[in-house]
Amino acid sequence: MATALYPGSFDPITFGHVDVIARAAGLFERLVVGVLVNPRKLPMLELAERQAVIREVLDDELGELAARVQVDAFDGLTVDFARRLGAAFIVRGLRAVSDFESELQMAHTNRKLAPEVDTLFLMTSLEHAYLSSSLVKEIAAFGGDVSAMVPAAAVRRLGR
Ligand code: PNS
Repeated sequence: MATALYPGSFDPITFGHVDVIARAAGLFERLVVGVLVNPRKLPMLELAERQAVIREVLDDELGELAARVQVDAFDGLTVDFARRLGAAFIVRGLRAVSDFESELQMAHTNRKLAPEVDTLFLMTSLEHAYLSSSLVKEIAAFGGDVSAMVPAAAVRRLGR
């Protein structure tokens, strides 16, 4: 199990994402956190900022495992990026049953597009299962405190 890709918007990274990254980094020799460049969505944090926050958080929180994790931006299809990386697995976190339907559809679609790339689901730890980047953005936009939801590096950027 050499390389896996953990794709997402990470706008911003939450403690739920960090949990999934830490656990996936223990399973693979190389984990690539793929930050999606989505021209159809206006992100709260610029791409470079999202990448910088993720790198900072991983170096702070993952200890030795951080060396196995690479943070890259990508556009286009996730499976094409996985192929370019030589990744045999796409990692996704599942928080609740409500995530299941769309994740199932995505996993089947990706497998149809690239049968050699499989999706591996990790259940997000219970204490982070309520978190979502969109709620964090909404709370931050109204000046609420998101420090229990996202790492300090992200709080600093959202607070401006
Ligand atoms: O953090 P998100 O927004 O839940 O991540 C969604 C993501 C980036 C994994 C998904 O939107 C995606 O893979 N986008 C890239 C385009 C693509 O491959 N679409 C087909 C997926 S079936």
